[in-house]
Amino acid sequence: MAPIDPHSFTDSAHPLTTHVSLTLYFDFPSSTISAATLLSLAAPYSGPLTIDTRSLSVSAVLDPLSLSRIPFSLSPSPPDSVLGQSLNFSLSNQSQVLILSETAPSSSALQWLSPPQTFNKSHPFVYTQCQSIHARSIFPCQDTPAARIKYSAKLNIPRQLSAVMSAKHVERRPPSPAEAVGVCEDAIWCADDRVVEEFVMEQPIPPYLFAFAVGELGFREVGPRTRVYSEAASELLDASAKEFSHTEEMIRVGERLFGPYDWERFDLLVLPPSFPYGGMENPRMVFLTPTVIKGDASGAQVVAHELAHSWTGNLITNKNNNHFWLNEGFTTYAERRIVEVVQGDDKAALNIGIGWRGLIEEMERFKDNLEFTKLKTNQAGVDPDTIYSQVPYEKGFQFLWRIERQVGRPAFDEFLKKYIATFKFQSIDTDMFLDFLKANISGIEDVIDLKMWTEGTGIPPDAMEPVSEIYSKIVSLANEFQLGRLPMEDEVADWQGQEWELYLDNLPKSVEASQVRALDASYRLSESRNHDVRVGFLKLAISARCREYYGKVEKTLKEVGRMLYLRPLYTALVQCGGKGDEEDKVFATRVFSEACDSYHPIAKGVVEAILAKFVV
Ligand code: BES
Ligand code: ZN
Repeated sequence: MAPIDPHSFTDSAHPLTTHVSLTLYFDFPSSTISAATLLSLAAPYSGPLTIDTRSLSVSAVLDPLSLSRIPFSLSPSPPDSVLGQSLNFSLSNQSQVLILSETAPSSSALQWLSPPQTFNKSHPFVYTQCQSIHARSIFPCQDTPAARIKYSAKLNIPRQLSAVMSAKHVERRPPSPAEAVGVCEDAIWCADDRVVEEFVMEQPIPPYLFAFAVGELGFREVGPRTRVYSEAASELLDASAKEFSHTEEMIRVGERLFGPYDWERFDLLVLPPSFPYGGMENPRMVFLTPTVIKGDASGAQVVAHELAHSWTGNLITNKNNNHFWLNEGFTTYAERRIVEVVQGDDKAALNIGIGWRGLIEEMERFKDNLEFTKLKTNQAGVDPDTIYSQVPYEKGFQFLWRIERQVGRPAFDEFLKKYIATFKFQSIDTDMFLDFLKANISGIEDVIDLKMWTEGTGIPPDAMEPVSEIYSKIVSLANEFQLGRLPMEDEVADWQGQEWELYLDNLPKSVEASQVRALDASYRLSESRNHDVRVGFLKLAISARCREYYGKVEKTLKEVGRMLYLRPLYTALVQCGGKGDEEDKVFATRVFSEACDSYHPIAKGVVEAILAKFVV
């Protein structure tokens, strides 16, 4: 018995599931989902099977044909803090097994919002975030990207709500009499109040790409294969439709660069502000934070990134999280190629520069844990959420950019297309990529130290900053800040969010409080509608202990649950620094205790880990 993935109980000697058929009954009053999960294997199998679960109550494992019970056990007990529990049973010449289970209200993949926590305040809302290893907290599955599954799903939900999934919508219909059985046991919802929404995903996906959202949803058409969905409020829908009006153009650019778009639809779902990421590449239905809607079309960068995953990540997937850079490094490279076409070289250079700064900061964060400065990592025993970083994104980007510089763009483009066509719908590891690289670009290993790039720590000497006039100008202005010079009005006249973000990222780590105040007096960054800018400024204000901004810090921490913002703000508050740290820690702890009910469980866990490290 050998695990195939440090984050899954799945055994290499067991067959992998090829299809999952799900029936889900949503009970909003108890924040739980009852699931009937039919797992199918490619062929009849006799022997043990090990399935991942986390905080699920499993009531029965059944032979779906005879409905006879199959004995099962859950282990270890108590559950492993990273992996959860394995569900163990044996099959005898069977290719299907039916598992009945119920989620816990604390399911790590699910955020349940009560009506007051939603935009319209009249209906509840629930949505998933399964990457990296949270699908197992919704239904039992072999929760490893080494498994690729097709699925179908029937979602039984209150009639006032509707559902979207990372799958094709089949129909919305009343529950059949059989499906109504058991429903009326519930005092609050009875069959008349329910509908069933059916979906099917006909392409094999890794379990982390399973996704749904249920709530009072509306949509706008923004392109021939794109709708933007959000909570049904016209101001939200209109702003979203405007922000994402260029999506079709980006899909076409992606197709030109990377080959056909294989997922038919590219819909977008704008989630409530607690969504813990900027975006999540759920196939056919990308999930987005509302903070990308800034009114200046800069949300396009996040969409470009999630779109790029349609090729790099969703078509070709890392076999397990040790090779996560194959997903995110390739996607960051592909995202910047799309941005370069639709927004120009300067914007692409700014993004590379912001990424470069981010990479340098991560080296500092992991200076005592160099394993996570590598591309190919060993994540055994480690929770992927707590070590989530820019390293796979930016060091991965730098590696691919280095290869591009070596071979020239035309040859690299050809290589990329061939790579995607060769491995599509497969899950691969770093060595498979390197073998393919060496086979297709002969002699590459003689000019680039591939081992240093993939297995070495830190930033290789042949990584580089972008070359661009606007980039250099912003960096030198940031350096002059140290000498007491603020940028002049005409120098920043055409700056948008990314320019300011780059400027703020490049300021020295410790700055004088008076300078922070002067910067804000001139440019009102603490009031920016753009969260990247506002948070960048507030981070600076915290490190200079400018406490007059803490009201804005508190407001921001209570308004959004995107980890990109929570992580640096909480870290800046609790990390050792100048005088008055205790006061900041007390402040951070209080704000968290008041805000955490509105955070997604993943974000809550990540902030708890930050506070636990620094607050004793
Ligand atoms: N797949 C990631 C988000 C993710 C990674 C969720 C790991 C869970 C575990 C997504 O594609 C992503 O990278 N989002 C970025 C967008 C940005 C790079 C434009 C984010 O959320 O910040
Ligand atoms: Zn990504």
